[in-house]
Amino acid sequence: MKTFKIFVCACLLGSVNFTSAQNDKKMNQYIDALLAKMSLEEKIGQLNLVTAGEVTTGTAVSTDVESKIMSGSIGGIFSMTSPQRIRQAQELAVNHSRLKIPIIFGMDVIHGYKTIFPIPLGLAASWNMPLIRQTARVAAIEATADGLNWTFSPMVDISRDARWGRISEGSGEDTYLSARIAKEMVIGYQGDDLRKNNTLLACVKHFALYGAAEAGRDYNTTDMSLHRMYNEYLPPYKAAIDAGALSVMTSFNDINGVPASANHWLLTDLLRADWKFDGLVVTDYTAVNELVDHGLGDLQQVSARSLKAGVDMDMVGEGFLTTLKKSLAQGTVRTQDIDRACRNVLITKYKLGLFDDPFRYCDPARQKKETLTDEHLSLARKAAGESFVLLKNQAQTLPLKKQGTVAVIGPLANTGANMPGTWSVSADLENTASLVEGMRAALDSKVKIVTHLGANLTDDSALQERATMFGRTIPRDERAPEVIIDEALQTSQQADVIVAALGESSEMSGESSSRTDLNIPTSQRRLLEALIKTGKPVVLVLFTGRPLTLTWENEHLPAILNVWFGGTQTGNAVADVLFGDINPSGKLPVTFPQNIGQLPLYYSQKNTGRPLKQGAWFQKFRSNYLDVSNDPLYPFGYGLSYTTFSYSDIHLSNTKINSGESLTASVQVTNTGKYDGQEVVQLYIRDLVASQTRPIKELKGFKKIALNKGESKTVEFTISPEDLKFYNQQLEFSSEPGVFKVFIGTDSQDLQETEFELTI
Ligand code: BGC
Repeated sequence: MKTFKIFVCACLLGSVNFTSAQNDKKMNQYIDALLAKMSLEEKIGQLNLVTAGEVTTGTAVSTDVESKIMSGSIGGIFSMTSPQRIRQAQELAVNHSRLKIPIIFGMDVIHGYKTIFPIPLGLAASWNMPLIRQTARVAAIEATADGLNWTFSPMVDISRDARWGRISEGSGEDTYLSARIAKEMVIGYQGDDLRKNNTLLACVKHFALYGAAEAGRDYNTTDMSLHRMYNEYLPPYKAAIDAGALSVMTSFNDINGVPASANHWLLTDLLRADWKFDGLVVTDYTAVNELVDHGLGDLQQVSARSLKAGVDMDMVGEGFLTTLKKSLAQGTVRTQDIDRACRNVLITKYKLGLFDDPFRYCDPARQKKETLTDEHLSLARKAAGESFVLLKNQAQTLPLKKQGTVAVIGPLANTGANMPGTWSVSADLENTASLVEGMRAALDSKVKIVTHLGANLTDDSALQERATMFGRTIPRDERAPEVIIDEALQTSQQADVIVAALGESSEMSGESSSRTDLNIPTSQRRLLEALIKTGKPVVLVLFTGRPLTLTWENEHLPAILNVWFGGTQTGNAVADVLFGDINPSGKLPVTFPQNIGQLPLYYSQKNTGRPLKQGAWFQKFRSNYLDVSNDPLYPFGYGLSYTTFSYSDIHLSNTKINSGESLTASVQVTNTGKYDGQEVVQLYIRDLVASQTRPIKELKGFKKIALNKGESKTVEFTISPEDLKFYNQQLEFSSEPGVFKVFIGTDSQDLQETEFELTI
């Protein structure tokens, strides 16, 4: 029987290889023939990616798009939407350009397209891999139904500095969790066949290390040891590529002295030679031109350098379009460099099936039928509910009873436009329900909701303007703060409970939205103080795109529910969770510090030579601060439930293994509370002695399980030889014999522990 199975598998594999080899041959012949017909100008034209201007993130915008399409000077367009408009542009290319090469159409489809899901940091908090994959699938269906075939996602930049605004767009601080999510997103977008009209080409970004910008200031320098890069920052990009992502976007930042978009080591030695990536490399928005400001030369010099480093497509800046011909004549680039880049663009189009049918994504009937469907909206509601993290719930303040009156007070209560969160450029902001509207719809008049602005987002009107760009407005009241608060208190008088809808506006995080103060703005703190004085229970529903410093709030409020930015269905989902229809199960994908001075703060730190004793605070001549403990306010992996879970001791299948063996670690988890619920069971490992220093713990597995009240389940993890490996000083990926600690528990601090030994 065994032999037969192996035989069948071998046959299948053989036939798959044969077919794909045949397909590759056919594709290469097609592309070779096409390349042979192309003029130099046409080849360079394919490297030009322009924006249609619906969304711009820099000062430059593309011009003369129509005539450039017809002259073959454009390979791709992004931020153009609708099947009709895209058909028109595609018609210009395939009917009016000499070689009729179709255009690729891209867009930033980051956390949903029309149906918006929680911001990526929120989705990561669900720790629900099938759910995350489904959200990417739905995004692909809706975006392709609108004519698109390429998304600039997933964004997999690890970030450990909450000052950086774009921490909201990624999966947080952890290498393992981010890598798992990267894989799910790519599979969700690309499906099993890129030629289908509902699959979307993924683009892994921002390669690389963009999230490690110094001081959390956007676009700033990164400088990092290779050891840290390989072990902590690069794996999520690699996971996305291993999952089949066929395009990669270079990042804006400098990496150890060479900006990513001109970095030959990064884009050729690592990406192509070591990782065997054979897809398309595109720059970020005007990143080639920005090499001039980085100090690498004039536009012609930096364009040549970027091409030779391994970039195929130049986004918006047109440095390639305007200078490569001259560089070729002067011998600073070679024909093979241009051919290589052009081939990668053409192969991508071929793989999308655009040469067979350039209009395969332009079906207006699909757009109507497959956008914002009931199924998509209910997925968005589920995803939002699962992304919320219950940070505090003293004396079971939550869930609330579905009765009486609730006052929803605060600048985030009545703004639909802020619910989708940052980088939701295709969201229909005008038709997105506000928190109050969504709650009212979900509660169906069982609970009376009264509402008031209560406070401005911030006292500083100029800051508010900067933090509410792109139509994400929040009403502003210019009267004295005390007058607004008084009115809010009157509104709250009739309420049994106050829900304070506070925190950040959606554009307070995201691109170019770094902050140096992570407290809830003073205007809102003042409101909270007044609300607390009413003596009524005050529940903070916190909107944020990043970890905030909530030390004061944690001390003074009975309940805090972090809802990030939950997308189209935020209001409904907040009602689901506040009133107990959904038991919160989100866990933080990023550490929340006590204060900003602790940053960067992350759970997988090194021990140092002078660690603090466990549980201690200040010890002279130990690694700590005079004024605050080393502890986070809320650790990575943390999140409460309305129920409680208990963990048994860890049982190991073996306490000694050799480097080719696996072992299992299991625990029994019991729901000891009064509600059915879900728990994310987390596995961490520590390599106690090695040839180089290792983190005090690293996430190596997790399982999200459902447990009815009173129910127990045994959760088993396999620890494989791969889980024990790391990149050593020679950058070899290997394990070293010795003792390893194993931790299993509910967050990165509350853990059971045991140990095993790895022999050679
Ligand atoms: C961002 C990218 C985005 C691109 C295109 C840039 O400013 O950094 O993440 O994909 O714009 O919109």
